[in-house]
Amino acid sequence: MIELSDEIQSIPHSPTLWANDMVWKKRSEGETVYHMGLGEAPFPVPDRLKKALAQNAGEKEYYPAAGIPELLETIREYYRPLVGNYVDECDLIVAPGSKLILFALQAAIKGDLLVPNPSWVTYVPQSKLLQTESIRVPAQLDDEGYKIDPVILRETIHAARKEGKNPTKIILNSPSNPAGTNISEQVMEEIAQVCKEEEIFIISDEIYGLVSYDGNYTSMTKYAPEISAITTGLSKHLSMGGWRFGVSFIPKKIEGLHEALCRYISETWSCVCGPVQYAAIEAYKRHEDIEQRIKDCTDIHEHINSAICEGLRAHGIDCPKVKGGFYTYPNFRKYRKNLEQHNIKTSGDIHRYLLENYNLVSLPSTAFFGEGDDLCLRLSGCDYHDRAADALKGYQAGEKLDRAFIEKYAPRILESIAVFGSFMNDITSISTPKAA
Ligand SMILES: Cc1ncc(COP(=O)(O)O)c(C=O)c1O
Repeated sequence: MIELSDEIQSIPHSPTLWANDMVWKKRSEGETVYHMGLGEAPFPVPDRLKKALAQNAGEKEYYPAAGIPELLETIREYYRPLVGNYVDECDLIVAPGSKLILFALQAAIKGDLLVPNPSWVTYVPQSKLLQTESIRVPAQLDDEGYKIDPVILRETIHAARKEGKNPTKIILNSPSNPAGTNISEQVMEEIAQVCKEEEIFIISDEIYGLVSYDGNYTSMTKYAPEISAITTGLSKHLSMGGWRFGVSFIPKKIEGLHEALCRYISETWSCVCGPVQYAAIEAYKRHEDIEQRIKDCTDIHEHINSAICEGLRAHGIDCPKVKGGFYTYPNFRKYRKNLEQHNIKTSGDIHRYLLENYNLVSLPSTAFFGEGDDLCLRLSGCDYHDRAADALKGYQAGEKLDRAFIEKYAPRILESIAVFGSFMNDITSISTPKAA
């Protein structure tokens, strides 16, 4: 009998892609669906990049595993004003998406993975595929940001070692998916100190770094450059996930790491396809139109996600202030008793209730390595009803965005906020509960 491996069997379908498939099916059957499940930035590819891709369609060779030197140098110079001399202390790698680099980095660093709760959906399944342990590090979310207590981090590392685990690497992500908030510089410094003392390698997932609403790019590499790798790419700030283009900065101080990754690439994806590499050069040349596009999209993301956060708060729901990315991460803990009366006990139950009663798709905290009883949901603010291109055209640089803008370009966002009002009525009313 031909059997599948335990590792592959333990991996569920990615919850975000599952949500997307389900919405697609329901919409094709004519149903109105509120899609807060998938964080796909909806804006179109900038014309300059489309043109560059077409002009390079004939570039068909196998290229160096790490990437075309001209591209790597252009990216290095793009990041210099953002992360300073760190760029000179690193080698660069490009890949078909940063997801693959995250996997390669996890594979390259021996030992178990420290994963803050909540964290992006993919880190833990990747760790499972590599047969390493994922060790949960509690994080606290509030209006000041995403906090990891350095004392708790150290205790978690020591406790794991006592249990025979081998924590050697941590993945951090700021601005955070799913939390929609940032790790402050002070917290970064404290985490970096613990990681240096405990010899923990930092994988700093900075894919939303250019979607920080205050316009500041903050990087873990400021505090622990010699033990930190950055992963990033074009998927978020330029809304180009489907182009599959990721970047990583690999610290030279970790001996042999860059060479090991190049060997790994040579045995897996070989190289990023030529047209995409040449077109990507244009994305990193600091063309004024591209830089303006990044700023405009970030402003629109801020406006939409702040409206969701404030709309939920107006319905009495706790939601940490959003500071970057495409998401909000509300929690319903203070309604635990009301929810229990309706047989809603976990974040998965809330997710199901909203789906079954309101056709609203969210994701439960369990998709993000959270404990189900934390009663958190991740909501994505990307449901533009095919009007994102118009929203971008209709937006004037620096314009103060108002409710009329959302009504015009993303009306389903306002309707989704209203759904939460109905949900709160359901759970705080004493009438017969709907089925959870
Ligand atoms: C936090 C985070 N990291 C990494 C990725 C992977 O992005 P890509 O593989 O498109 O570069 C995503 C995509 O959703 C993400 O949200």
